[in-house]
Amino acid sequence: MFQTVTKTFTVLTISAALLAGPVFAEPISIKFSHVVAIDTPKGQAAEFFKKKAEELTEGKVKVELYPNSQLYKDKEEMEALQLGAVQMLAPSLAKFGPLGVKEFEVFDLPYIFSNYEDVHTVTTGPVGQKLFAKLEPKGIKGLAFWDNGFKSFSANTPIKTPDDLKAKKLRIQSSKVLEEQMRELKAMPQVMPFSEVYQALQTGVVDGTENPISNFFTQKMNEVQKYLTITDHGYLGYAVIVNKKFWDELPADIRTQLETAMKEATIYANKIAKEKNEEDLESVRATGKTQITVLTETERAAFKKVLVPVHEKMASRIGKEIIDEVYKEVNFKK
Ligand code: LMR
Repeated sequence: MFQTVTKTFTVLTISAALLAGPVFAEPISIKFSHVVAIDTPKGQAAEFFKKKAEELTEGKVKVELYPNSQLYKDKEEMEALQLGAVQMLAPSLAKFGPLGVKEFEVFDLPYIFSNYEDVHTVTTGPVGQKLFAKLEPKGIKGLAFWDNGFKSFSANTPIKTPDDLKAKKLRIQSSKVLEEQMRELKAMPQVMPFSEVYQALQTGVVDGTENPISNFFTQKMNEVQKYLTITDHGYLGYAVIVNKKFWDELPADIRTQLETAMKEATIYANKIAKEKNEEDLESVRATGKTQITVLTETERAAFKKVLVPVHEKMASRIGKEIIDEVYKEVNFKK
């Protein structure tokens, strides 16, 4: 009798434990890897998330940040996330193609967004949701979209017209849309991890690049690029993503607290992004090493004319429906 009761009790205890999901050793560690400097919009937002997450979970979660490609470069970090070697990343939206989720490249289409508000309409609407749903079969869950900003071109010769980039070797992120964009300019695109750009510019492996100013300045590209032209020709932002299995198995109360921390970090990220890029433009100017050109409306229109055909050329890759949906949401005009 006693034995039966003990056995039943043991079975019940085990079943209850199984129902409650896996037991996490506390503190639960979240390794969050990224490729940019701490003093960038993404770097600062990651710091903010860490602080909030640890506060709200009262230390039950510890977020370990690995900035500046310290742990992994672009492609490796995606693989590490899928394998569970890290739990959280915030790759640029231009880096999801190699994962097989080409639709994210809609964000790379030149001139599709006129401002941050346009971007937010899309990221917080049905398109944002649909894109995140596409990650799930890959074992990845999308938590938030974080801004960086609008990209500019740099090189060692002046850039005033699209022709000025002709025949130049230009570093790009791993997006086919960006590849096509550079081909429209008759330039030679070179895919390269972010961590290698400075050296490639310094040694002449590439002649120029594109990035928001915060990335340009914090990687000290002003030391190796004489000319920077504010073209704002495309958007660069991030998807904060987690290993889905890890996330789904978290105790429900902890997951809710982390969701709150992420919501607050997203508001913070999107608040500082524009300011940070403006501040860093002034810092680039102050170094006196890079000459900054701001295009006139006519000059800007010339770039737009050359680059907008990328939309149609890439429609079959990204999906015409998704492009049309974005066009409608942002009221896009050619
Ligand atoms: C780049 O590779 O240029 C950017 O994606 C880096 C980043 O994460 O902002």
